[in-house]
Amino acid sequence: MPGTPPAAPEPSPADPADWDHELSAFGPDPKTAPTRAPAEPGGGPLASARAALERLSTWVPIHALARRHRRRIVEHLLALEPHDRYLRFGYPASDEQIHKYALGIDFGRDEVLGIFNRRLQLVALAHLAYEPPPPSPSQRTMAEFGVSVLRQSRGRGLGRRLFDAAALHARNRGVDTLFIHALSENRPMLRIAAAAGAVVERDGGESAAWLRLPPDTVGSQVEQALDRHLGELDFQFKRQAQVLSGIVDSVAEVKAHFDASDRETKE
Ligand SMILES: CC(C)(COP(=O)(O)OP(=O)(O)OC[C@H]1O[C@@H](n2cnc3c(N)ncnc32)[C@H](O)[C@@H]1OP(=O)(O)O)[C@@H](O)C(=O)NCCC(=O)NCCS
Repeated sequence: MPGTPPAAPEPSPADPADWDHELSAFGPDPKTAPTRAPAEPGGGPLASARAALERLSTWVPIHALARRHRRRIVEHLLALEPHDRYLRFGYPASDEQIHKYALGIDFGRDEVLGIFNRRLQLVALAHLAYEPPPPSPSQRTMAEFGVSVLRQSRGRGLGRRLFDAAALHARNRGVDTLFIHALSENRPMLRIAAAAGAVVERDGGESAAWLRLPPDTVGSQVEQALDRHLGELDFQFKRQAQVLSGIVDSVAEVKAHFDASDRETKE
């Protein structure tokens, strides 16, 4: 739960009936998805190929957010229910605190990753907060991960995908430890961290998880660059689709207006 929280309005309450359609691009439906194949002992080329195939088949466009997305970030966080705000920030964040948190995100230092649905609603959001470099090179470089997924979009692997992407980004920035602070009751979050190999320490109601990251490689840098490019393409594509849909709606509206005028004239 990086940073201190805060908020602004207008969560678009999409028709829940549309969600399955909206989310069909975000991986298999959890109700019908097969369970993960067990890891091949010792890894090997077959395991790598299987992992690459699984990654491709559940590919989700992840967008690197910038200052211009602040309004969407606020909308996403405000749409979280009270208990989710508590899980996300560690306290029941008010609208005002959410606003403050969003305004306080330092895009020059941190990274914010998001997943949009076809209506360009931000359905999943991750904040990777980088700690200042340690005074001694022997000390660990850390980044803290915080995430939220809108209720309607949960259980589809979006939280896990954002976690994986954040780990990749942190690794490529030379960070060696990813830190997650979660309430001990937060089973999905702790499950994501533990599945990635993080060491989880419970202290009563609170838990801390540390994931050691390997050094970056040319492959990890290329993977991030490719993801970024595809995420941007996906966003532009959805935006164009939205503009086109707006034009079609306007044309239909104008046509309906003329049809009505015609009918009135004839009567
Ligand atoms: C935590 C959160 C981001 C997870 O998002 P998500 O997209 O639903 O997560 P995923 O679909 O990737 O699922 C993650 C894992 O949790 C498991 N899980 C989901 N709901 C669960 C539950 N109620 N109990 C136990 N495990 C659960 C999933 O099965 C999955 O594990 P698997 O891949 O081994 O099957 C989401 O629940 C959320 O936004 N919570 C509120 C904010 C929050 O808690 N943030 C974290 C603190 S920073």
